[in-house]
Amino acid sequence: MRIVSVVGARPEFIQVAPLCWAVAAPELAGEVEHVLVHTGQHYDRLMSDVFFRSLCLPEPGVMLGAGSGSHGAQTGAILAAIEPVLLDLAPDWVVVFGDTNSTIAGALAAVKLHLPVAHVEAGLRSFNRAMPEEINRILTDHAADVLFTPTDGASARLAVEGLGHRVRQVGDIKTEVTYVVRDQVRDQAPVLPDGVTPDERYYLATLHRAENTDDPDRLAAWLEAMAGLDAPVALLVHPRLRDHCARWGLDLHRGALRPAEPLDYPEMVRAVMGSAGVVTDSGGLQKEAFLLGVPCTTVRTETEWTETVDLGWNALCPKPSDLAGAVCRPVPPPSDAAPYGRGDTARRILDVLRGEPRPS
Ligand code: UD1
Repeated sequence: MRIVSVVGARPEFIQVAPLCWAVAAPELAGEVEHVLVHTGQHYDRLMSDVFFRSLCLPEPGVMLGAGSGSHGAQTGAILAAIEPVLLDLAPDWVVVFGDTNSTIAGALAAVKLHLPVAHVEAGLRSFNRAMPEEINRILTDHAADVLFTPTDGASARLAVEGLGHRVRQVGDIKTEVTYVVRDQVRDQAPVLPDGVTPDERYYLATLHRAENTDDPDRLAAWLEAMAGLDAPVALLVHPRLRDHCARWGLDLHRGALRPAEPLDYPEMVRAVMGSAGVVTDSGGLQKEAFLLGVPCTTVRTETEWTETVDLGWNALCPKPSDLAGAVCRPVPPPSDAAPYGRGDTARRILDVLRGEPRPS
């Protein structure tokens, strides 16, 4: 059978990795042809290429080169570019991941061509319709034929939306990558910005969501709050953050802030493992911190990964003035709860795709 996975933004390169590894397993030799279609939403070396190298992903079979743009322009460019590719490849399944503009464009193009679509990481909701990702994930869930959910909560939400019959709960695909990579990097030294040494206490931070970075006053307030923390802050700078700071004259070199380029995935996992805490507005990083036993402070009003909060490892901090207090809260007791599965998600996805009758 032929599976096309649509990827384009940084989190999708991580999500697709276990599927690439599972397809290459000897017992499936020759049975599954897996083609990666890279939309080009992320194109910088540090946002794309390094992930293919560090996670041993195969070269994309097709590069669409859509690039940046407004949401409509970017989603539309991917939609137009991917349609002839899907027609040509005629896959048995089109697999999309998460909630990016590449996700919704890939799902929409495929479903309109009557190609079966599977959505990995289905059923997550922030209930914040101002987030572009929330719109993408709702529409993708309703377009897809099979919904691979990571958690009980995600499956239950889809049932409420009338989609329970399409749900296959398989655990969280990123958990699988995190565990594999954790075991590979455990004995390596972390890659840290100038001014941060591995044997001192440090925080690891990222900030890229539109709600935090598109308004100069709010962005300035977050940078000021991070700069005032009680230990060095290794701030991994996303292109959106870099561009907006340059445009508004906001200095990233101040106080506790130690800015650096984004890391590849193994470097990121290792840097989280060595940190005293994570400060982020990323969805994936909140969960990775939990899986790696590091407390996280999420600089948003809500999270899709509510289990991390319920279990005490994640705290929501929507106000910059509350950040210093939030990062210093006591560390919760260790937990062996596994709300995201045990790391066998890709294998379970392939079992479903290989056994599932094509939707009529
Ligand atoms: C996208 C996803 C978000 C995910 C994030 C991970 C959507 C709606 N959002 O947000 O869910 O958490 O990826 O990074 O799809 N840019 C570059 N080089 C690149 C990529 C982006 O310079 O390789 C700059 C461009 O100026 C671009 C901006 O970053 O306009 C934002 O990129 P975009 O992919 O549109 O959204 P992200 O903020 O990365």
